Amino acid sequence: MAYPFTCLTIFLATFLSYSAKVASLQVGFYRKTCPSAEAIVESVVSQAYANDSGIAPALIRLHFHDCFVRGCDASVLLNSVPGNVAEKDGPANFGVQGFELIDEAKAKIEAQCPNTVSCADIIAFAARDGVSRAGGIHYAVPSGRRDGTISRASEAAENLPMATSNVTVLTENFARKRLSLEEMVTLSGAHSIGGSHCSNFVHRLYSFNSKYSQDPSLDPAYANYLRSQCPRISPSASTGPNQVVSFDPTTPDRLDNHYYKNLEKHKGLLFSDQVLWTTPSTRKMVKNNADHENLWARKFAAAMVRMGSIELLTGTRGEIRKNCHFVNF
Ligand code: HEM
Ligand SMILES: *[C@@H]1O[C@H](CO)[C@@H](O)[C@H](O)[C@H]1NC(C)=O
Ligand SMILES: *[C@@H]1O[C@H](CO)[C@@H](O)[C@H](O)[C@H]1NC(C)=O
Repeated sequence: MAYPFTCLTIFLATFLSYSAKVASLQVGFYRKTCPSAEAIVESVVSQAYANDSGIAPALIRLHFHDCFVRGCDASVLLNSVPGNVAEKDGPANFGVQGFELIDEAKAKIEAQCPNTVSCADIIAFAARDGVSRAGGIHYAVPSGRRDGTISRASEAAENLPMATSNVTVLTENFARKRLSLEEMVTLSGAHSIGGSHCSNFVHRLYSFNSKYSQDPSLDPAYANYLRSQCPRISPSASTGPNQVVSFDPTTPDRLDNHYYKNLEKHKGLLFSDQVLWTTPSTRKMVKNNADHENLWARKFAAAMVRMGSIELLTGTRGEIRKNCHFVNF
């Protein structure tokens, strides 16, 4: 009597913990339940890109900011509610865009297959399509993510890397998400498209530190150009011009390895970009990526898939949000 019972218990316990732990994503997760899901996202991204190529960097950054905070669970899309400031409304998500595109894709998908496709998967598909448009880099996206129910601005601030960080801090930041030093360098190549507001790098241009007025790792001519784009903001001014400057002055809309070539020439826009070249442990990787574009592109695709599988909610955890901005009732 006791033996089969124990046996069954062990079997069940093993089975349950197994499925809870490794329940993971699969390519074509919606093949039977919503076969056109990925095509719908692709067509929405294509149309938006044809009008404004800036949608590609927006979607790639949105996916990154989603995955680094509570995993890829679309927590970045949730609205603030009384008593809780959501991720998107905190300073760490300043400048994040692409919400309307996700809403458009979600609405079209809900019309065909209600309550089936998660907002988190839509972000992952859309980021992939952005990479494909802007870089001609193609990869399959494993799906089956579920949406979370919690979004806190404070967690975005704790988990997202800062433009003022050095390689030690960036490495720790990515390691907490089980991403390697090399993956950190590879993914930073996303800063080959899109741009940054002056406020994220103006500290490098005027009074950098007690010894240097401008960051000595910055090419002087490039620094002059950046100063022309970003006037000195007086510390007391709460508002003022805060332009967006392209990351890559050579091919601003092309997702390519020019990001790394620029770093070699001391033309990294953010302090956190240029440190990848000034720090010995990452300089070799920068050089390698600058010299071998196809190799970098393959590594980038693989690293995007790894980034897309951070701290997942799968199976019956989380929910399939009806509206990406709100937790279901
Ligand atoms: C390594 C640490 C990183 C730091 C410190 C960092 C920081 C930043 C900052 C400050 C901006 C400018 C935001 C603005 O002013 O509007 C930005 C933009 C951007 N980031 Fe990162 N980032 C990092 C890694 C990544 C990664 C891993 C990805 C994606 C794989 C990524 C993709 C982007 C993109 C595409 C933009 C441009 C967005 C747009 O133009 O709409 N970044 N990042
Ligand atoms: C096209 O792009 C412009 C500029 O980015 C934007 O303001 C506008 O809403 C876009 N139009 C459509 C139909 O997406
Ligand atoms: C990196 O930054 C951290 C935090 O600001 C600092 O404690 C550390 O000394 C810096 N490391 C290097 C190598 O500069």
